[in-house]
Amino acid sequence: MKTLIIANWKCNLLTAKSAEELFKLLNKGLRKIRKAEIVVCPSFIYLPKLSELLLRRKKTRIRLGAQNCFWEGKGSYTGEVSPIMLKNLGCKYIIVGHSERRKFLNETNQMINRKVQAILSFGLIPILCIGETKEDKEKGKISIVLRSQIENALKKVSKKEIGKIVFAYEPRWAIGTGKACSSDEACVARLLIQKIIAQKYSQPTAKKIQILYGGSVNSANVASFVKDAGFQGVLVGSASLDPNEFAKIVKEL
Ligand code: 13P
Repeated sequence: MKTLIIANWKCNLLTAKSAEELFKLLNKGLRKIRKAEIVVCPSFIYLPKLSELLLRRKKTRIRLGAQNCFWEGKGSYTGEVSPIMLKNLGCKYIIVGHSERRKFLNETNQMINRKVQAILSFGLIPILCIGETKEDKEKGKISIVLRSQIENALKKVSKKEIGKIVFAYEPRWAIGTGKACSSDEACVARLLIQKIIAQKYSQPTAKKIQILYGGSVNSANVASFVKDAGFQGVLVGSASLDPNEFAKIVKEL
């Protein structure tokens, strides 16, 4: 299993030119990387241009991903973006259930489940985000929250399909705060996720799934998640907007 390093640009980079420049710088800094798969998830509107740039760079390590999608392939759904459109643009991955969408757009576990099923059915890889709030953590509810998020997101997902999903443990309180989870806490959450999958599917299935950590990842702490806490990659927000720092993160692994 290849380590995955995902750059989630969120709603940053306000012009196509700035997105293109950052993409070129990232690509330049990562040319010699062989060990990891790097995925850039820009705003939808920059995907066509970045896809065109990727096609011109045959040796690049970078793949494209989207930050969200709709749960239907096409139809009368004003303002939505179909997973098929994203696939046709060259996306391989789609982030689903990010905590910012759960929080600001009231995305529910049921909606997330429909998106996961759609993404799988169109042959793309869902990056399923899960994680507790600060309040959940203080009340000792991490395991209840993770179980509910996972079980609901995976309804009607078969044993064969589960191996295609990438899980991203992103404790909400660690996102954008500069206060990353400790590697011990993250390791406990990773084991919990595996236990929930083992109970729903099987022990061997749980051992094979890919789990990433996200939340204030930087070059100083990335090794503690991947090398010490056993995650198979990271989901990076703000540090992915700095090409030097992002290259350092990748080189730490
Ligand atoms: P930060 O790395 O900025 O904390 O964001 C994490 C995140 O939400 C990635 O999806």
